[in-house]
Formats: sequence, C-alpha cells, structure tokens
Amino acid sequence: PRKIIIDTDPGQDDAVAILLALASPEEVEVLGITAVAGNVPLPMTQKNARIICELAGKPDTLVFAGCDAPLSRKLVTAELVHGKTGLDGPTLPDPTMPLQEQHAVDFIIETLRRNDPQTVTLCPIGPLTNIATALEKAPDIASRIQEIVLMGGAYFEVGNITPTAEFNIYVDPEAAKKVFACGAPITVLPLDVTHAALVTTKRNAAIRALNTPVGEAVAQMTEFFERFDREKYGSDGAPLHDPCVIAYLIQPDLFTGRHINVEIETVSELTLGMTVADWWGVTDRAPNSTFMRAIQAEGFFALLTERLGRL
Ligand code: BDR
Ligand code: CA
Repeated sequence: PRKIIIDTDPGQDDAVAILLALASPEEVEVLGITAVAGNVPLPMTQKNARIICELAGKPDTLVFAGCDAPLSRKLVTAELVHGKTGLDGPTLPDPTMPLQEQHAVDFIIETLRRNDPQTVTLCPIGPLTNIATALEKAPDIASRIQEIVLMGGAYFEVGNITPTAEFNIYVDPEAAKKVFACGAPITVLPLDVTHAALVTTKRNAAIRALNTPVGEAVAQMTEFFERFDREKYGSDGAPLHDPCVIAYLIQPDLFTGRHINVEIETVSELTLGMTVADWWGVTDRAPNSTFMRAIQAEGFFALLTERLGRL
C-alpha cells in the first residue's frame, strides 16, 4: 500500500475521505491524520477527525493537531455549509482515543525524513497551512515527498467561496502558493472534478442500504451537507469533494486531466486564491501539477459504497 498522511479540516466530505482511506488498507496505509483549521476552527477539526476514526473502528489511528490559523490571514470558516460542529448531521459520540501530543507540522516533517525518499504521499483536503509550514520549517522534505494529491482550486468551474476561488485555496492562498512552488509532484482534484461527484438521492440511498453504523452516519452527513447546494444552486445533491483525493489513489483511472502550470493569486482582492491554470499552454511557465478535469462518477460511487461497506 501507498503510505499517506491525510491533512484535513473535517468537514463531512473530509470525514467520508477518511472513512474511504481507512476502509482501503490494501491500497493506502494511513500513517497519520493531521488536522488544520478550515471548515471550522482547529479544536473541532481535530476532534472530528478522532470521531471519524472511532466510527471507522480504527481508534489506533494517529491524529495530530496542526495550525490554527492561515500563514498571514484571518481564518475564514464554512459553518454555513458544514454546520456549527463541522460534522452536523449524525449524532456521534465524543472520541475517547487520544490526540497525539506532537504538532502536526513536526509529524509531517519527521515522517518524511524517517521514511525512504519518495515513499510518503501527502493528501491535503483542507487549507494548505500545515503543509506550507512544514515546507518552510524543513525545506529538505520537498524532495522526499512522493506526491501531493490535494483537493482544491477550480478552473472551468471557477469558485465556491468567491466567484473565482475555491475554499481550501482561498483560506490560505500564501500557503497554497508555497505548496505549488515546492517542486514535488502534485495532483489536483479541483471543483471541476468534485462538482461532478454529486451524492444524488439514489446514491445516498445505496450508502444507507449498507445498513451499518458507518453507512447510516455517512447518509446523514451528506443529507446535511447537501441542503446547502440544493437550496443555493438547485443542485441534484452535494458534491463529495474530498473523497476524490483518496479515490484517485485507489483507482486513478476514474480521473482524467492534464499536466500543466498552475499559479495561485495572492494579491488581487477580486480574484484572491484563484488557481490560474494554464490549461491551453499559453504561457512558457513550466508545468507544476496534474490538474484533473473529469471523473467517472458512477465508478467513483460504486467504489465508495463498496468500501464503506467494509467498515
Ligand atoms: C473544500 O472546502 C471544504 O468546505 C470541503 O471540505 C472541501 O475540502 C471544497 O471547496
Ligand atoms: Ca475539507
């Protein structure tokens, strides 16, 4: 299995990503889960991460708390979408498994240094503050990263927090800029992909029909999460953003994209956090990431449902 660190701000879709990873030990080995401030403040994201590990029946998973605010900006949260706790929907017990004492950033650095070069993949599914801080503190880790597979950005689907920016990048654009410039191989699952991964009523019914605590909790999470999109956009269900990252590691042929240059806007007030993707190769800037554009949604939901059924 591929060794991964999930860097996350749960978030219902983050929770489903964690469950998918923990259900797939043949393909991915979760070395640790590092929490960051994002959808809700850090005290809740680290707690939610532990709640989900326990729901998965994996209380031995290592969970670390990381940065509680973006590198240089005030934290922007998304309670409107995810609810007050970040995990509104199901009623789940408070976790009893411990939070690790080590800071998430130090865990990331230490893990990359301890393992052979290019054997650890980072999976950021929240703002990129922890990853950027680790790169800043220990520049030597960049060349040791196997791949960074992240959920963030948008090109054809433009934005979900401003007209041109996606939430994870918008919250900490300086961090995103650092990550995209770090030289490690990067794969991006942007809104262009995740807005096609919609939890329709039928897909949610299939998850509920697993008839397990995990299936029921996920069904309730996506039902909560989807209200926002149905009401606001008339969308046929909620986009399941973050699990796309894990699905990509398990079954990459579900996704297609291009290896291109992506730069992050950090100055303009109007387009702050935009992922400026050179899709048509109109600049001579070197490609720095594989920017996905399409997903086979049926295959993705078949994989997800089958894996959730293993927990
Ligand atoms: C991203 O923002 C968060 O609200 C979700 O968890 C996802 O990571 C989508 O823009
Ligand atoms: Ca997230």
